[in-house]
Amino acid sequence: MYKIKLYNNIAPIGIQQFTADYEVGDDIENEDAILVRSANLHNIEYSDHLKCIARAGAGTNNIDIDACTQRGIVVFNTPGANSNAVKELVFAGMLLASRDIYGGISWAKTQQNNENLAKDMEKQKKKYAGTELNQKTLGVIGCGAIGVQVANLALRFGMKVRGYDPFMSIDAAWNLSRYVHHDSDIDDLFRNSDFITIHIPLNEKTKNTINKETIAQMKDGVKILNFARGGLVNNDDILEALNTGKVAKYVTDFPTPELVNHPNVIAIPHLGASTAESEENCAIKAAQETMHYLQYGNIRNS
Ligand code: MLT
Repeated sequence: MYKIKLYNNIAPIGIQQFTADYEVGDDIENEDAILVRSANLHNIEYSDHLKCIARAGAGTNNIDIDACTQRGIVVFNTPGANSNAVKELVFAGMLLASRDIYGGISWAKTQQNNENLAKDMEKQKKKYAGTELNQKTLGVIGCGAIGVQVANLALRFGMKVRGYDPFMSIDAAWNLSRYVHHDSDIDDLFRNSDFITIHIPLNEKTKNTINKETIAQMKDGVKILNFARGGLVNNDDILEALNTGKVAKYVTDFPTPELVNHPNVIAIPHLGASTAESEENCAIKAAQETMHYLQYGNIRNS
């Protein structure tokens, strides 16, 4: 009998995957495996039996990978299981950054007593006029499971797409449309994009990828989207660039107090993967990979 310890909000369908050979719960001791969504596992006590940690999601920065490596504990995630959800929200963000949908909705909500609504609506057309995605250039930093989906959808919006990824997997390369221009130098992507979206993991090398120097290379009025991790963008530098107008909009799934009130920041409370479908996909995949690892000692995820 294998023992599986659960940490926070694993969709029930994931737990249902485990067969009768597994004891599963959040109060399990001497666990063989941990299943986690986004709870912080950095300072927890691991059981001596622990063989693997499955992260039901993409980012693994809530897990102390170095400590796990030292103890021979394998950590894996569920690549691709939430990419559709993130892709869709990236496009919602891109549309919000181009059309003042939020301003228009807020205005409409104050009009319940307006007897001249039809006439006044005419005046709003100019005030809330925006721009189109069609024919704009989107730069996608990181062409993994999410970046590939974003790039391919952007083509359907009529966008020109550039992708940068120094470590593209064979699967990702296969799934990427041949109409995506591949930048071997990230600076080319910075220089040529109207929108930049970032889809890479956060680590010591990628921290502050968007900073004063990289922003200086970008087009004036660039719009930046961050649905990956807050630390990939330097908040002080992006705020300064928003104040000068160098960056026209910053759409982020990682609000911080200094950012949220800026008129050109669109901040969302880390909802990228928060759909019923994505949570179920991640939970199923994490549970199945955990059983596979415990039985066969290898990982099928790329
Ligand atoms: C992920 O890393 O899977 C996403 O950011 C979603 C999440 O952590 O909830």
